[in-house]
Amino acid sequence: MSETLTELNFERQLSPEPRSAAERQEILADPGFGAYFTDHTAVIDYSAGSGWHTARVEPYGPIALDPSASVLHYGQEIFEGLKAYRHADGSVWTFRPERNAARLNRSAQRLALPELPEPAFLEAIKQLVDVDQEWVPSGDGESLYLRPFMIATEAFLGVRAAREVSFRVIASPAGNYFGGEIKPVSIWISRNYARAGRGGTGAAKCGGNYAASLLPQLEAEAHGCKQVLFLDQDNGNAVEELGGMNVFFVFRDGSLVTPALSGSILEGVTRDSVLQLGRDRGMNVQERTITLDEWRDGVASGDITEVFACGTAAAITPIGMLMDETEKIGSADAPAGEVTMAIREELLGIQSGTVADRHGWLHRLA
Ligand code: COI
Repeated sequence: MSETLTELNFERQLSPEPRSAAERQEILADPGFGAYFTDHTAVIDYSAGSGWHTARVEPYGPIALDPSASVLHYGQEIFEGLKAYRHADGSVWTFRPERNAARLNRSAQRLALPELPEPAFLEAIKQLVDVDQEWVPSGDGESLYLRPFMIATEAFLGVRAAREVSFRVIASPAGNYFGGEIKPVSIWISRNYARAGRGGTGAAKCGGNYAASLLPQLEAEAHGCKQVLFLDQDNGNAVEELGGMNVFFVFRDGSLVTPALSGSILEGVTRDSVLQLGRDRGMNVQERTITLDEWRDGVASGDITEVFACGTAAAITPIGMLMDETEKIGSADAPAGEVTMAIREELLGIQSGTVADRHGWLHRLA
């Protein structure tokens, strides 16, 4: 680790043109998801010779990149997603950030990027939220979405791991990911495209996985669905995950089931938290293979009573119907399931400080 980073010495250059309080309030009144950004960004640069260096907070704005920067050609990029929540007393907290720091480093290993020490990850987030804390909304279900990411900045077209890299954090006020009220979403089964293959990058949070999901996502949208479901690549029957979320099943017998981590599924922080909340509720929590056949039969027989998607951005979202050209499983007008909504309320309650944080998941930022 470089000297600068050991001391976590972030230089701070404030924006000469921050948004006015009135402009900020207008944005916070209806933030949507991912459309507006705060006034600053946190940055730490890396070079093979000096390690991580030049930690700083600077005004939000375009990044100057050489046109030959490897991220632009070979997609050497990873990212994370976590949120800052405002509590009733005005304090600002985030949720299990050490999990994001660890996952960033697992993704870094897979994408041949340098690992970032956890204290530097946490400090970058703290620094950014400190300077932009007025941007953390206080409305029900609202938060400041934090997007850490790492890109290969070296100007070089040879295909090898870049020797110059930049780690950055940007922040965006967020309401409901799917917009409007929480209601069950319809999901499109991707028959022609897989998200990940054996030995691929499915377990890493890298831009390429999401780029590969966009065409099937368009297919989903063309059929009125909000997200796409990917099946395993081997026999196309085991449920893996949605375009940007993990998936859970509630059974009539009190089981809570999610696909086991197989090397091609993203290890979601919300996924892990839901597993714990399920255990806390005395549910029989299982991480195992669950097939499309079991989904279809379980819904038909009533054994599967609820299905939901989870992720940092969308928290917990009920799934009403799963469909493709040939079949429809469930119903688009199904009401949100009771267990789904109870787990959602509990999770959001812990995050927003209205439910006891019995697992020590919260981390104070400001
Ligand atoms: C998240 O929930 O943070 C995600 O990964 C979804 C996203 C890419 C918007």
